[in-house]
Amino acid sequence: MKKIITMCIAFVLLFVLLGCKSENDRIPLILYDESDPYILEFKNYILDDAAGNVDIKSYDSQNSQLIQNEIIEELLDDNPRLMIINPVDRLGAYTIINEAKKQEIPLIFINREPLKKDMNSWDQLYYIGAPAENSAIIQSEMIIELFGNPNNLSDLDKNSDQIIQLVIFKGEQGHQDAEIRTEVVVDELEKYGYELEIISIEICDWQRDKAYEGMNKLLFDLEGEIELVISNNDAMALGAIDSMIENELFVDIDENGIIDPEIDTWIPVVGIDGIADAIPYIDNGYLYGTVINDSQTMSLVLIELVQAILDGTNLDDLSFELVNDKYIWVDYKRYEPES
Ligand code: GAL
Repeated sequence: MKKIITMCIAFVLLFVLLGCKSENDRIPLILYDESDPYILEFKNYILDDAAGNVDIKSYDSQNSQLIQNEIIEELLDDNPRLMIINPVDRLGAYTIINEAKKQEIPLIFINREPLKKDMNSWDQLYYIGAPAENSAIIQSEMIIELFGNPNNLSDLDKNSDQIIQLVIFKGEQGHQDAEIRTEVVVDELEKYGYELEIISIEICDWQRDKAYEGMNKLLFDLEGEIELVISNNDAMALGAIDSMIENELFVDIDENGIIDPEIDTWIPVVGIDGIADAIPYIDNGYLYGTVINDSQTMSLVLIELVQAILDGTNLDDLSFELVNDKYIWVDYKRYEPES
């Protein structure tokens, strides 16, 4: 009888241990907002790359720091071996860091970069992202190709005043990508010698709907012409284009379904991300160009890092550079349509 009881206890213990282990091995991926199309694509790459390698479960914070905090608090009770976090408020990441540090749970941040001082507060913190300057420089190269010589602008200078009248669609205030992309694209164009007249900077929080509304309102109030639209991301670029189509700033005069710069009415619009929704707009000539914010590569890098941390392998042996033992930068590249 004693033997049977001991065996039962052993089974129960084994069961509990195995149960705990599988809970611990499941890695949470906590996203700031799955209704953001760029983030949704990023998530899908991550889950695809993880399949069969790492057990990742994603959580949607619905763009609410409160919801994200609740999700994280609950997950901390399960003592996961590490967590992947796309913070809602990147400036408040220290609260999450402090909690994780107490339980010695490494954190990998993606896409929304915590402050340097927070990242430096522990050696088990990592960030995977793209260098924002780089995207703005590529955007400025597209604009240079459109407007040409700053002292003798192309026909896109519709009123021939040798000044580019432009509108900027900006992402969330305080987001590293929104701030840097906006500042650097303007700096680059001015450095090249263009005279710019910024008609408006519309802050639209990365969202297509807000950009649509913003452009509608702008066109209603506006006197004079817009000659260029620079958007911090594709979603806002598409919202702005939808409004411009309705307001007849894009007119497919020969009705062939494509905006032909030589024949049709159009305004150059440049975006960033390279999301799937943007590709038909590029193919049909409504969006002049975009810059790939390479979530496909970021996802591969992320899974490699997760596996290395879980296996306890030396991080010096990773196939990419770990800058200051923390940062992994994945470069942007210009989107080249398939011909
Ligand atoms: C940016 C991206 C935006 C938006 C944002 C969310 O890198 O370009 O479209 O998704 O991240 O943090």
